[in-house]
Amino acid sequence: MVSNISRRKYRVTDLKKVIEVKALEKTFGKGNNKVHAVRGISFDIYEQEIFGFLGPNGAGKTTSLRMIVGLLRPDAGEVTILGINPNRDGKKLKNVLGIIPQTPTYYEDLTVEENLWFLAKIYDIPKPLAKKRINSLILQIGLEEKRKAITKDLSGGQKRRLNLILALVHDPKIVLCDEPTPGLDPQSRVIVWDFIRNLPNQGKTVILTTHYMEEADRLSNRVAIIDQGKILVLDTPKKLKSSIGEGDLVEIELVSHHGQTDLDSLSVKLAALDPPLPFEDISISQNTLTIRALDIVPKLSRILTFIEKQNFSVGNLSLRGTTLEDVFINLTGRRLRS
Ligand SMILES: Nc1ncnc2c1ncn2[C@@H]1O[C@H](COP(=O)(O)OP(=O)(O)O)[C@@H](O)[C@H]1O
Ligand SMILES: [Mg+2]
Repeated sequence: MVSNISRRKYRVTDLKKVIEVKALEKTFGKGNNKVHAVRGISFDIYEQEIFGFLGPNGAGKTTSLRMIVGLLRPDAGEVTILGINPNRDGKKLKNVLGIIPQTPTYYEDLTVEENLWFLAKIYDIPKPLAKKRINSLILQIGLEEKRKAITKDLSGGQKRRLNLILALVHDPKIVLCDEPTPGLDPQSRVIVWDFIRNLPNQGKTVILTTHYMEEADRLSNRVAIIDQGKILVLDTPKKLKSSIGEGDLVEIELVSHHGQTDLDSLSVKLAALDPPLPFEDISISQNTLTIRALDIVPKLSRILTFIEKQNFSVGNLSLRGTTLEDVFINLTGRRLRS
């Protein structure tokens, strides 16, 4: 077993398979209302991995998660968690799985601490052990000052943080986290990210769903990009990003003193420069010129001089690395967030 795993040291081959998902399918409704929510997804998840499910709203992430944990029966396909089928033997997995749903699981009228103790009792955890875990979870999620506060008096972000640790009181080996951060304040988001990132260090395996490319990129060892019920690609964030081209991107917003035709011909002229300007890709969309190139900074002055010579001015310029959003756009032609 690998301990103190960090994202950089992660190697799938060193690790034990904990979840196997094979050709999972789910359709809701009938006739005109039929929705083919999940269309045959397959993948394996390894011990102490953070596996990210990245896709837009309606892609089928929650439906997949519910089938994986045995809350929803698949129409076809099979799931095995540590050799157990959650649809047949769900009870055997009660202590193994920690599910953090999008919806609240706390009682508004109880204090933070009481909510946690309530779960410790349900799971029949011995008092001294429960106390230790509850204290540690409250500390890790930054709610020490609120432990005696009534839950309904917490801020939205604090409530969501409580929701997260409630799923961990029984110290599950596998944690499933459905969209942990929409609407969170920046401080809560950083705490939640750190909390999730630290779970593999405690021997846990994590499945995370999100529609934020940055969240999937920062937290996951591997990411499956899901759209319309299908997994389009599955790999490490680094490999996914390099799959659409090496190098960084410069985006230059042009202010045109001419028409669209001149804008379109600008990229053609740039591509034909003599001596050539080496780049991987060039495109114009509306009034933004996007160039992908290796070692882009030293090339910038030549690009800008050329643009000025062509009688355009630069409204804005930004330099960035490839993101998982670029990967999604490349695969689907759409943005993640519509
Ligand atoms: N219980 C349900 N009844 C009918 N349709 C559903 C149900 N649950 C999900 N869907 C539909 O299935 C598709 C996938 O939904 P979901 O898995 O919630 O996506 P995501 O979590 O990626 O946003 C959507 O079109 C959604 O409207
Ligand atoms: Mg969802």
